[in-house]
Parts: sequence; structure tokens; C-alpha cells
Amino acid sequence: MKFHDEIMRRRTFAIISHPDAGKTTLTEKFLLFGGAIQVAGAVKSNKIKKSATSDFMEIERQRGISVATSVMSFEYNGILINLLDTPGHKDFAEDTYRTLTAVDSVILVVDSVNGVEDQTRRLMEVCRMRDTPVIVFINKMDRDGKNRFDLLEEIEKELNIQLHPMTWPINSGKEFKGVYNLYDRNLRLFAANTKAEGDESIAITDLNDTVVEEMLGTADAAILREDVELVDGVNGELNAEDYLAAKVSPVFFGSAINNFGVKEMLDTFIRIAPTPQSRETSARKVDVEEAKLSGFVFKIHANLDPKHRDRIAFFRVCSGRFERNKYFHHVRLDKDVRFSNPYSFMARDKSVIEDAYAGDVVGLFDTGNFKIGDTLTEGEDFYFTGIPSFSPEIFKEVVNKDPMKTKQLEKGLMQLTDEGVAQLFTQFGGTKKIIGCVGELQFEVIQYRLLHEYGASVEFRALPFYKATWLTSEDPKKLHDFVRFKQANSALDKDGHDVYLAQSEWFLNTEISNNPDIKFHFTSEIH
Ligand code: G4P
Repeated sequence: MKFHDEIMRRRTFAIISHPDAGKTTLTEKFLLFGGAIQVAGAVKSNKIKKSATSDFMEIERQRGISVATSVMSFEYNGILINLLDTPGHKDFAEDTYRTLTAVDSVILVVDSVNGVEDQTRRLMEVCRMRDTPVIVFINKMDRDGKNRFDLLEEIEKELNIQLHPMTWPINSGKEFKGVYNLYDRNLRLFAANTKAEGDESIAITDLNDTVVEEMLGTADAAILREDVELVDGVNGELNAEDYLAAKVSPVFFGSAINNFGVKEMLDTFIRIAPTPQSRETSARKVDVEEAKLSGFVFKIHANLDPKHRDRIAFFRVCSGRFERNKYFHHVRLDKDVRFSNPYSFMARDKSVIEDAYAGDVVGLFDTGNFKIGDTLTEGEDFYFTGIPSFSPEIFKEVVNKDPMKTKQLEKGLMQLTDEGVAQLFTQFGGTKKIIGCVGELQFEVIQYRLLHEYGASVEFRALPFYKATWLTSEDPKKLHDFVRFKQANSALDKDGHDVYLAQSEWFLNTEISNNPDIKFHFTSEIH
């Protein structure tokens, strides 16, 4: 196949949702359609139900390095789909944010009963920062959910997006009768637990046709007609350009567990979802069709099994062709590296691959050469922009319990933070190490891993900070004076950037207004 065609047949995306909205279930249905799995129940949820480390460790142990749940590639109607998994647990939100830097589009699952939830809001913020096109799937229509119009309004308002219904539901809960496809003009009647692979939809050329009454009954037929008139009148045809520009989000109604409404969405997805996109770098925009390889590491997965202490770096190809055993330029380390066993992820298996194209995610065995954001090229020096760190929410001082193992501790902290498990800060003028995470669970994970992988024993002491902001100023002296004056709240991040650790929103706002010459950045990407 031609280079151009290889790129054009790829779609790389993530399914995001608040935990329990149905992400795992929907993923499984996609894999069934793609023929990547044969039976329902094959995809195990990787969510952590009890928010306990033991659960997390257990899940990680089971997953081992198989990382099958991190990237799933499958073919559907000639399109190669790369589905990137995102952890649902909020303590691992940063992992999800970074995964979103490696996709070209997103499917957002919303629970029709709960509507917009916390996690949904945050994830959408990241999508908006990057102008990522979003398709919305309103799930669990078989349950008594919110009124369809209220729900759409809530999503639009809360997530600040404009929705464009592609299908329209007929009731919900016990009365859920199916969906009307506003584009293909057909009706699909709801049946619980359908294996629905065939197309059992009924073409409706005219909604006033009496066949609609026969199928839905007089009352529901009338409601559907009214709804459709309203929706059609407001929306008209979907403008694919607006979707690609992240201005409009097509929305589908369905029930993932019943495999209902999923195919409609998947068919639309492969038709309209973006092909791998060109990307900005620190030097220039890299065109996706460029012949030379470029790409970046967005995730590092460590194996917690002490017998196999290897790590896998997830590398998103952005241009050119990745080839096994070929030397590529590792920009940060300024050295040439090659990979004899790069992996691709076909659903549940990983297999060694010979080459990969833009849009693909390759798993690279890593012995400590990679950090999040690292770039490989064929010689040029640049890095991909838009892979920021967000402020942690919980800050703790690292207390070394075993001074004999100080070196191991330092190494462990560097490596774990390179992996993106947490952020590391050093307090101003001192050596006090501060770890910042999004969730409590990560501290337990770090403590566990420092002990088991590096032999370093630590405790954490809570610090009263709520947010880290990165500082810059046109006037170096002003910046210098500020960090000296605010010693107790000043720190350096791992790359040596000045950081202000605020105790509260009030303190932060006060400092921002008192120091107009200093810029407070809310992500680490400040250049
Ligand atoms: P997540 O990955 O987003 O966290 O959600 P997941 O797919 O695990 O789904 C969460 C729960 O919602 C599961 O039930 C799942 O069976 C259920 N679910 C998913 N889609 C639908 C739907 O369309 N209708 C209804 N009624 N339920 C749905 P659970 O009891 O938490 O888990 P399980 O024991 O069934 O695995």
C-alpha cells in the first residue's frame, strides 16, 4: 500500500468518560465489530473500584507488561483504528491528559442518568485546549434517564460545546423504543441484548408514513415527529468541517451494554473522524505526510513484576515511517537509538512489528532512556509542543527513612517522575524534595515502587499547598526577588523552572495581582 494511503486509513482516538459511564463496555463493542474479540466479556475493566493501592497493585500485576488495555488496534471496513485506553480513576487523570495528546479525536461517553460529571468536565477542558474533535455517545438509554432535551442542554452548557444530534431516541428506560437516524432516515427498534451485527434498521423515507405508528404506537410516533422537526430545524446537516475544527460535536444515543446505537456511531466515526493530523513542534509544523520519521513518547508503563523489571515507552508516530532496527535520533539525549523489538498492539496481543505509520502507537522497550515528551526524528532537533504537565493537587515532602539508600532514592524519584507518575519539586535554596500528584493513590504507588524497585524506604509529610504555578518574567531580577521573598512557597521543578506553590486560591490570586511583572502559568508548557 502507498505511504499516503497508509496514513489516510488510520484513525487514532480515545474513549473518555467519568468512571462507570460505560467506557469499557463501549470499547468492547467496538472490538467486537472490529472482529478483534469474539465474545462479550473479554475486555476487563481496569477501573479501581475501592480506591485502594492493593487493588491498583493487583490490577497492575495482572496486566503486567501485557499493556493490552493501553492501546487496541483493529480494522473495521478497511479502516485501521487505534483506540487508546485512558484510566478512569481520577487519581490517574494526568495519565489520561497525556494520552489525549497522542490522539486525533475523542469519543466522550455520558451516562444518560447522571449527565455531566466531574471527570467529564475536566477531560473536556483538555480536549478544548487542544481543539480535539469530539463525538458524544449518550449511554444507558435503557435506564430512566434525564429528559433528552434537558440532557443535551446540560451537556452543551456544562461542557461548553455545541451538540449536533445524529440519532434521536424514542423514550428511555423501560419505555425506550429505539433510535431514529436523522441522517440515514431510518428507525432502529430497541431490543435488549442484541448481538446486532446485521443491519436491522427500517428505512423511513417519510416520517409521516403510517408505518411509524405501526412500529411505535400513535403517541410515540407523534412525539418523534415533533422532536425531529424541532431538531432538524435547529441543526440541519452536520458540517464536517465544524466537527473537525472542534466547533460542533455529533451526538448519538444508545445503550452500550445492549450494543444498541453503537454501530451507527462507529460507521459515522470512520466516515468523519480525522485522519492523523500534522503537528506543531518547537521548530516548525511537521506535516503528517513528511517522509522522515518523527514522533513522541506520551506514556511510560513500568512493569511491577520484580521478575520482569522492564518498561515500555508508548511512542506516537507523527510523520514518516517507523522501522524496526533503524537508527533514529533521540533529540533530548542527542544520540542515535534503534529498536529490535518494537511492538504494535492488536487488541489483546502485542506483536513485534516491522514498521508503523503516522497515527500508530509503537511500544518501545526502555531501560531508562525515555521521559514523557521525548522526541525521535531522523536527525532534526525539535520537540512536539502541547504536552504540558498540569498542576498537581496534593503535595507532600519526601522523608527518607533510610539514609544508607539516599542514592537509590534519588534515582528512584528521578525515574518515577520521568515516567510521569508524579511531579518532583525541590524547595527553594534547599534539598527538600516535594512530590506533587493528582491523587492520594499515587503516593502509595510511589512508596511501594521506591521500596520494591529501588530498595528505598520513604514516608510522606503532607504540605499545605493546593496548586503549583510556573513562573516567568521579562525582568529576571523581579523574578529572583519574588522567589527569594517567598522562599517557603518557592521551588524548582525537575527542569529547573521556577514554581510558586500556593496555599490557597486566595493567596494565589493575591500574588498574581500584587506582581504584575511576573507571569503565573497553570501548566508547565511555558516556552
Ligand atoms: P467505565 O468503563 O466507564 O467505568 O464503565 P463500564 O463499561 O465498566 O460500565 C459501568 C457499568 O455500567 C457496568 O455495570 C456496565 O455493565 C453498565 N453499563 C454499561 N452500558 C450500559 C447500558 O447501556 N445500560 C445499562 N443499564 N448499564 C450499562 P457494573 O454493574 O458496574 O459492572 P458489571 O458488573 O456489569 O461489569
